[in-house]
Order: sequence, then structure tokens, then C-alpha cells
Amino acid sequence: MTNKARIELSPLGACFETDVGASLETALAPYGIEFPCGGGGTCRGCRVRLIEGSLAVGPQTQRAFTPDELAAGWRLACQAKVEGPLTLEVAQWASPVLGDDSRLVVEPSTGTGIAIDLGTTTLVVQLVDLANGKVLAVRTALNPQAAHGADVMSRISFALDGGSQVLSGAIRNTLGEMIAGLPGSESVRTVMIVGNTVMHHLFCGIDVEPLAHFPFLPLTEGQQDLAPGSLGWDLPPQARVHFLPCLGGLVGSDVLAGVVATGMAESSRLCALIDLGTNGEIVVGNAERLLCASTAAGPAFEGGRIRMGMRASAGAIARVGVDQGQLQCLVLGDEAARGICGSGLVDAAAAGLQLGAIAGNGRLTGGAKVFPLLNGVSITQADIRELQLAKAAIAAGLRILTRHWGADLDALDTVYLAGAFGNYLNVMSARSIGLIEVDPGRVKPVGNTALRGVKMHLLTASQRDTRISGILSRTEHLSLAADPRFEEIFVDCLAFVDG
Ligand code: FES
Repeated sequence: MTNKARIELSPLGACFETDVGASLETALAPYGIEFPCGGGGTCRGCRVRLIEGSLAVGPQTQRAFTPDELAAGWRLACQAKVEGPLTLEVAQWASPVLGDDSRLVVEPSTGTGIAIDLGTTTLVVQLVDLANGKVLAVRTALNPQAAHGADVMSRISFALDGGSQVLSGAIRNTLGEMIAGLPGSESVRTVMIVGNTVMHHLFCGIDVEPLAHFPFLPLTEGQQDLAPGSLGWDLPPQARVHFLPCLGGLVGSDVLAGVVATGMAESSRLCALIDLGTNGEIVVGNAERLLCASTAAGPAFEGGRIRMGMRASAGAIARVGVDQGQLQCLVLGDEAARGICGSGLVDAAAAGLQLGAIAGNGRLTGGAKVFPLLNGVSITQADIRELQLAKAAIAAGLRILTRHWGADLDALDTVYLAGAFGNYLNVMSARSIGLIEVDPGRVKPVGNTALRGVKMHLLTASQRDTRISGILSRTEHLSLAADPRFEEIFVDCLAFVDG
């Protein structure tokens, strides 16, 4: 029989059991903890601090920390094996936003609740103890709708071709199975879901046709309250399922949750929240008012439409730098380079600019056809063009929203980067190619703010409605394309900005 060990994670209070001898990376991945260098032991992004228990120090961990840090209990999670019970502090959760426990207020109540982040690609389901906010169990899965299109636009096309019930049924069934696999689901009182506007519509059975054309406005974007029985979910009949409202237009409740998690709607300082994806979502504002917009960035940040593009997985070049005039590439996992992911692409463009292989307008210099990186992996002129379109969509969106707010980019106190890509992205490279035109010191990757935000709602039921209506009443949705200067600003943002 396999021995089990209990693992407790601070500061969010997750608690679970895993096999003794299991890799800590495998055990932590379902909790949304990211491994930026693919578990290669080179980035320190996965570091954890031992509060109780022990983890052996291997050669890579030894190299990654000073003797004082090792003595203080710091370890690389990707290099550790579970030897027995552990209490760990997770460095990724100690960022100024995610580790701020004062923001994770708990109004103790009885029973359990379920927080769901319904992403276009991945699904995360957390069972939470409503008495103390502890995460009792987590399930993750791929969104089954991906069989009918990788991004929201292809899902809309499939739905409009008569597939909307297939998409609704698939997501409801998968989430129902994930919930059924949670221990003690008979005590569940509330389920709260966040997701982008298309996920909101497809889950709730709302027609997505208006999302397919200008002005891309939903039929209804408000909160949807459902009975578990109507979804075919095996939960107590008195439990309630709430899909939280969209922030506005194509900006979904995942971003609303991000606004809550970052606290930007209560801040006196001007902040921005950017979710970098195929459909980039941007919010600018503070306690006074908020502006939001979505912008079609295309799939380049996920390695899409890039000749050798791939997702951030083993074999992907994820980091490119320049050392003494030479390119240095970091490849994820223990494999030879076979492609490049979004963070590598941004770095590669920044390195090409630095070396003079790419001009400020994006052209490869000296008549070159490709910019070679490592082991035959290279980027082409067309790849650079895709990146320019993607980064211009984000940069123009941020410029326009900030200008409409009545400020300029220098007035932004903090730019929060939400989502996994924000954690992988090198903010110096993002600055040097003009993707985020803000001093890197003011840019903060904040991980999965959607999940943290929905959990904050779950744990403070009495404040939820007032908090959400307060945010929605102060938020205005802008259509970027309707701005008379959109074209001009977008074209201006296409060039790379070096330095
Ligand atoms: S050092 Fe562990 S994921 Fe990079």
C-alpha cells in the first residue's frame, strides 16, 4: 500500500494528501502553481519555503540558493520529492496581491462552496471550507469544447453551425463529473463560476450570435443563477450555482474577479489589469471609475500562427537573452529545442533588436530570411509580423483606455499581468518591444486572479452583491475600434520600441 503524506500550502490554506515519493511538482501543479522553466531547476519561479517537514537538497537546489536561504528552508519545488508531511509557503502566492491575506476575508459559515475558473483551455474546480476558507480539494481538466475549436472565435463558429447544445452539454457534463469526484460534495451550498463572455454564454445556454460581429456585445451579460438539477449535477437540491456577471462586452467575469483580487476598484492609485490571451482584456482605473475593453491580439502569445510556435511545454524555447553579444536560449524540460513559445518569442524579438538583427520597424536586417535561435529553431519575418500585430493590439488598448480615463501611461501606478502567460513573460523584454509601455518596475505578474477573485466572493457572501454592483456601476465598457484614433494609434504601436 502506498504511504500518503499531508501537504499544507500557505498562505492560501490549501491542504491535500499525496503519495510519499511523489514529485512535488506533480503534487503542486493542480493548485495553479506554475513551473516557469518547465521544472528545469533554472528559474527559481517554483520556490517554496519549508515551514514544517523536510525536503532533501539536490544539486540544482543547492546552486539556486545561498546558504542562508537554504537554512531558512527555501527549496525548488520542481526538484523535490515528498518524503513526509509538509507545510510549505509558496513564493508565487507571496506577491503583493496574491499573498495579501488581509484581502482574503472569510465570513465563517457552515458547509462548503465550490469556486470554478472556466477557462477556454483549462478548468479549475476548488472545494472550499466556508468556515475558514481552506481549500479542501482541487480538480483540473482541459475544457472539452477544445475538440470544436481552440479559441473563442472558433467555438462561436461551431455554435452558430448548430453546435451550441453540444458545447453547452460538454462543459456542463465535464464540470459535473469534476464536482462528483470531490470528497464531501453533499455539503456544498454554493457554486460560483467565472469565465470569459463566450464561456458564460455557452455554459448558461445563451445565444452567442451577437458575439460574432461588431459591436460584439452580448445579449445579456448579467449574473446567471441556476439550480444544480437543471445542469444534471449531483449536488444538494438547495445548493445554488451562480455564473458571475461579465464586466462588460467581451470582458468576462474572470476579469471582474481579477479586479476584485487585485483590489484595484478600491485603490486611490491608477492601475491597469491586463489578461494577455488571444482575446486580450484590459481594465484601467481605480476607486473612482474603471474602463474596460477587449482587444483581438491573435494567438501569437500562445505560439499560434508562428512557424515553429508551440505552447510552453518541453522542447519550447521559453527564454532568450544576450550575453556578451551571444544569444542564450533556455529550453523547457530536458529536451532539445524544437519550437518556441510566446515568452520566448517576445524575448527573441527583444534580443534581435539588441543585436541589430531586427530593426525598430520589425524588419530583419541584412536581407536575412530568418533570425536563428538554437538547434534549427528560428523566427521568420512573418512570425515577427504576427508578434507586432499581437503586441500592437495590447499596447494600443492600454494607450486608448488610459487616455479615455484622462491620464497618460506615466500615471499608471501598477500594471497587473494576469494569467499564466503574464507569469512567464520577461517584463524587460515586454518593455523593450513596446508590448507593455510602462517602466518594468511598475509591472506585476499576479497569476490566476480569476480563481482568487471568485474565491473571495465565495467567502464573503453578504458583501458579494454590493461589491459586484459597486464595481459594475463604476465600470464603462469601451469599443476600441470605435475610437476615431484607433487606426492611427494601432499603426503607431506596430513598431518595436527599443529601450
Ligand atoms: S526552477 Fe523550478 S520551475 Fe524553474
